[in-house]
Amino acid sequence: MKKTRPVNSNSRENYMKGKTVLVTGATSGIGKETAAGIAGMGATVLVHARDRSRGETAVAEIIARTGNRAVKLLVADLASLREVKSLAKQVRSETGTLDVVINNAGGYFSKRRITPDGFEWTFALNVLAPFVINGELLPLLARSGKGRIVNVSSEAQRMGTIVWDDPMLSKQYSGIKAYSQAKLALIMYTITLAENIGPRHVTANVLHPGLVKTNFMSNSTGLFRFFGNLVINLTAWPVERGAETSVYLATSDEVLGVTGKYYHLRGEIQRNKISDNAADREKLWNLLEQYTGVTY
Ligand SMILES: NC(=O)c1ccc[n+]([C@@H]2O[C@H](COP(=O)([O-])OP(=O)(O)OC[C@H]3O[C@@H](n4cnc5c(N)ncnc54)[C@H](OP(=O)(O)O)[C@@H]3O)[C@@H](O)[C@H]2O)c1
Repeated sequence: MKKTRPVNSNSRENYMKGKTVLVTGATSGIGKETAAGIAGMGATVLVHARDRSRGETAVAEIIARTGNRAVKLLVADLASLREVKSLAKQVRSETGTLDVVINNAGGYFSKRRITPDGFEWTFALNVLAPFVINGELLPLLARSGKGRIVNVSSEAQRMGTIVWDDPMLSKQYSGIKAYSQAKLALIMYTITLAENIGPRHVTANVLHPGLVKTNFMSNSTGLFRFFGNLVINLTAWPVERGAETSVYLATSDEVLGVTGKYYHLRGEIQRNKISDNAADREKLWNLLEQYTGVTY
């Protein structure tokens, strides 16, 4: 098992001691590495998993790698709005203050699936779940005084468009259409979120982690899976590099007060022009409120 730096005393580590961080989808890939990186800085890390046994394995591994025992497991399937709300409830009963939420859980689905609430799966997992988690946990983040929200998007956003007359893609579905729409929507939502929560001293940023070797292709099929795996095997980054942007936005004092930005590694990168349209962003926000019943 690879060792993560144990807790010691450089400045980022000092800054993170006593802080509490939620990482969703922390059982594998970028999320597990992000959780380990932040646990290695001495923070309390709330590791979210949809499957208890995979979650327990991840928690044990992170504790063994970092020597930090303040790593706790929370379980919820984020494809169900009821369970997303239960995750927020578990966080509230675990801690009185929350410093960072990293909405990392996400995925690509070649075949159209519908969640128990009747939403297209990609949109529910990548957009509705972060909308509900952030809304429900905003009071805790505000209590921190310097709360941060970090949403994990993707450069697939560049190909994205919002299908306003059929966001659940019931008439014409493809995995890439659903994924690029969802990751663009996550960026549009984050910009409005940053504008809305500024007065509460909580920042919100969104990021592209890079092309990273993970279980990301596990729900893809056919040629996309074949070529996707080929490209990933030949060119993708290891998870340590893939987690860098999330860890940076969650912990660095270089981005204290930075909000509403789309990042890759340590710099801002270009967003799809569609996300510049404030009226469309507001339309999306209203849609998310309507779908989830959550307002904030
Ligand atoms: N890998 C890349 O090249 C890449 C590029 C751009 C963006 N991203 C984004 O990076 C994020 C992390 O993905 P990854 O590459 O690390 O993939 P991954 O290894 O498949 O990890 C995804 C995580 O999300 C969890 N998850 C999936 N469905 C869930 C659900 N219904 N409820 C709760 N948790 C669920 C998974 O849990 P299980 O262990 O139970 O499956 C896992 O912990 C995603 O948002 C992805 O879109 C990845």
